[in-house]
Amino acid sequence: MTTAPKGLEGVIAAESTISFIDGAEGVLEYVGHAIGDLAQHSTFEETVYLLWNQRLPTRSELADFSAALRERYEPPAGMRELITSLPKSAEPMHVLRTMVSALSMHDSSPNDNDPGSARSKALNILASTPTIVAYFDRHRRGLDLVAPDSSLSYAENFLYMLNGEKPTETMARAFDICMILHADHTLNNSTFAARVIISTMSDVYSALTGAIGSLRGPLHGGANEGVMHMLNEIPSVEEAESYIMGKIERKEKIMGFGHRVYKTKDPRAFALQGLAERLASDTGNQDLYAKSHKIELVMERELGAKGIYPNVDFYSATTYHCIGLKLDLFTPMFAMSRVAGWSGHVIEQLEDNRLYRPKAKYVGPHAVEYVPIEQR
Ligand code: CMC
Repeated sequence: MTTAPKGLEGVIAAESTISFIDGAEGVLEYVGHAIGDLAQHSTFEETVYLLWNQRLPTRSELADFSAALRERYEPPAGMRELITSLPKSAEPMHVLRTMVSALSMHDSSPNDNDPGSARSKALNILASTPTIVAYFDRHRRGLDLVAPDSSLSYAENFLYMLNGEKPTETMARAFDICMILHADHTLNNSTFAARVIISTMSDVYSALTGAIGSLRGPLHGGANEGVMHMLNEIPSVEEAESYIMGKIERKEKIMGFGHRVYKTKDPRAFALQGLAERLASDTGNQDLYAKSHKIELVMERELGAKGIYPNVDFYSATTYHCIGLKLDLFTPMFAMSRVAGWSGHVIEQLEDNRLYRPKAKYVGPHAVEYVPIEQR
């Protein structure tokens, strides 16, 4: 029996029309649209429509889609009480995973997987995730919850619920761009997890709950928090080089660098670098950006030849910090956006489903004699 490469590297496990990566050239497209174009011209709501329908919407289609999303910002009755009953010490990613799962109990037909129902459940989850994160954050800070405002875009509304005041146009647009950049990324670990789960004909809530569990790992979406911890550990721009050299000598991984598919700089990192630099200068965080940039230069010099370059998580840490987000909300931000991609893949999987059931190569012993417990 042949063995699959470790970590399924290079294995094609699904056909998809949602996104495309060329790891050598540093290309990412959503349904054929270059990520840089979308970051420049699109909005998150329009990008979600693109991912779920494989084409850009007309003006009236976008208006209908946005209206349907915005009228679901407030999660079902009972969720607010559930969120405010949670321990204030809980980690936001554990909260998000558990609350997305809990949404299923407020759905009268959680198991319906026909196309209309799957899309409706995806919309419920997409609309609810910012409210769950913002409600929990205010609950743990002992602040009154701020109800969503359906006149605001996804990005504006989240920052409004979190901070209790409407964001500036610059901050809202920067955050919207972050949401676009993180929305989908082919068959990454969490998306694969979502597709594997829905392939049993389980339900959309279960698939996305599993995906959130996958995303929080430090090798995946959790890396953006790891980057911020690292930046906080480095006392000054001058000390960035010796800090990174020490890590390389100890053969430790540097968070926010390297990728299974990209062997060049992640195209999302270019857009995020630009955002990080601008926001750092607007918010007096020039040192943080300078530290990040110094790390990138040292890494390129030391490990560029191995194809280890900044990934999406590297400059997103500086960007989120400048937007004013607390460190442990960085990965939930990734999740909020990636709900779009996970849902698109779940819908696509349901359209032409076959159960995922690979094999394992057994490498253990055979015909082992059973020894009674008292003789072991
Ligand atoms: N810093 C230092 N060395 C690295 C790094 C890094 N960040 N990433 C890979 N390497 C080295 C690794 O030590 C190994 O070296 P050697 O061949 O000498 O043993 C080689 O590169 C191959 O690494 P790998 O871990 O086998 O590669 P992989 O394809 O399994 O891992 C990865 C990909 C993203 C898990 C890895 O690059 C990594 O752990 N990066 C740090 C965590 C991170 O930033 N994750 C976010 C990924 S992008 C967003 C997302 O998908 O969520």
